[in-house]
Amino acid sequence: MAIPDTIVEEIKSRSEITDVISAYVSLNRRGANMVGLCPFHGEKTPSFTVFVGTQSYYCFGCGAAGDVITFVRKRENLGYEEAVRLLASRCGVTVPEEDKGGVRRTKVYEINREAAKFFRSTLMKTEQAKAYLIKRGLGGKTVARFGLGYSGTGFELYRHLTSLGYKDEEMAAASLIRIRNGKVSPFFRERIMFPIIDVSGSVIGFGGRITGNGEPKYLNTPDTVAFSKGRNLFALNYAKDNCKDGLILCEGYMDVIAMHAAGFRNAVATLGTALTADQARLMKRYADKVIISYDGDRAGKAATARATSILTENGLDVRILNITGAKDPDEYIKSYGADAFARLLKGSETKFEYMMSKAKEKYDFSTDEGKIKAAKELSEQTAKVSSAVERELYTVKVAAELGVSKESFDAEVKKARRRAEKESGSKIKQEMQNKSLGIGDRINPEHSQNPKAVAAEEALLGIMMLHPERAVQIRNGRFDLGEGDFVTEFSRRLFVSIMKLQGEGKTDIGMLGGEYSDAEMSRIYEIQVRRNGLDSASEEVFDDNIKALRKAKATKATDIDEIIRSKQAENSK
Ligand code: CTP
Ligand code: MN
Repeated sequence: MAIPDTIVEEIKSRSEITDVISAYVSLNRRGANMVGLCPFHGEKTPSFTVFVGTQSYYCFGCGAAGDVITFVRKRENLGYEEAVRLLASRCGVTVPEEDKGGVRRTKVYEINREAAKFFRSTLMKTEQAKAYLIKRGLGGKTVARFGLGYSGTGFELYRHLTSLGYKDEEMAAASLIRIRNGKVSPFFRERIMFPIIDVSGSVIGFGGRITGNGEPKYLNTPDTVAFSKGRNLFALNYAKDNCKDGLILCEGYMDVIAMHAAGFRNAVATLGTALTADQARLMKRYADKVIISYDGDRAGKAATARATSILTENGLDVRILNITGAKDPDEYIKSYGADAFARLLKGSETKFEYMMSKAKEKYDFSTDEGKIKAAKELSEQTAKVSSAVERELYTVKVAAELGVSKESFDAEVKKARRRAEKESGSKIKQEMQNKSLGIGDRINPEHSQNPKAVAAEEALLGIMMLHPERAVQIRNGRFDLGEGDFVTEFSRRLFVSIMKLQGEGKTDIGMLGGEYSDAEMSRIYEIQVRRNGLDSASEEVFDDNIKALRKAKATKATDIDEIIRSKQAENSK
């Protein structure tokens, strides 16, 4: 780990979790703990709980869990080290600048920068690649501004980076090459290269477009230590300084580049994935408004609807650009020019206008039948709006458009809300049942085959995390428990890690961060937090769970139907 454990421990001990979280969430005391509205998902009743005793948090609504570092990472969209450094400066601890692990990420930045330079010079030497960019209407200025390049076969880059002294493992860490069975293969071959630069100016990854036909059309750097596609946005490094009037969100690299070239320098794009809440929060750091400018096709419209709710949930004001007569913003600007696009931007619709114009396209408002159908759909959409004030405003406007009374439309909206509530109620119930059955558990994929065993395993692990003396007792033979008793791989691995950690006299499970992914760490905290308040201190409970684990292992059920039946019987008790 980059920052020495002792320093991280000191920072954590000086960063009282409730103090740190209070800066973001208003917390109220409940018993020994504090509760508030979860900052990681939209909710109206508090299910976000901060456990003072274990200095951890857990949201009973969305499952977000972690310690003070995880919180700052997620909330501020920072890497582990960045989050630790932020906390360090907050509590006045000095972190040494020069440390080994930290070089890893900066090393990747450095290799990426060299690669970008190499791609650029390769582009200059490759006529066919230059011709492609000219065909797409990209002038020298734009190419230079975005640092576009060409990959070549990929082997030239490998030789070049080798000559600069970079090791294979370092290039593989940047995902510029892959090593399989000791053989090196370049990741990007014969592609136009789009460097992806973060807001601090580091080259964190690349997108590569094929110049002819072929699949995949775009290839992106997979997640590396320096790059996470759900947490970054293409061109935000430029757009962040030009977005007083909001950011324009597009689907593609080429859309963004065309927009910037046409003078709309506040355009950004997701990186080949659907918009994430992290990306919404990242935008919120720089702007209050986002104009969604996705493709005009069916997929683009569906994505627009999803993005609208994610952006709204994260406090951004949303407008929607309705592109007609062209496939995407890039083609629109090419066909109709920048001025036409500016007019389109000016007329970008609010959420309500968008909803209304979609309904008018779909239904004939001059007939009763059309109005009835439209009323049904519009009432369902209005029902989804979370703000009561906004709902009322929509209700008045829709009623006027449909030529019906406000009261009758309002009645429809209320009906739709009750229906949705019922549905989401049973959905939550279903989700909870699936969760207890381990269905769809990606952290512990063996969970659904062994729900009973996992329940016992997690109880034991949770108790061990809360009561470090158990590890000592296990070692002394007070409890007959070893790694061989565990049924699932994830639990076994965690057992070994906890024993090792506590064997070194450490009690802070945050120290496991280096060995587990973020998602795994959330689960680990969840396992710990779920034991909070239960009679975990009792040795008998520990023994009982060991017995339960043995029994589950011996009678390992293979018939999933049988498990579901027994679980349902349990639930209906
Ligand atoms: N994308 C991707 N992988 C693919 C296809 C698309 O990551 N196989 C991402 C890219 O970020 C791309 C965006 O989705 O920019 C939009 O895709 P698409 O609309 O198909 O491409 P365009 O942006 O129109 O690209 P072009 O104009 O170059 O054809
Ligand atoms: Mn396009």
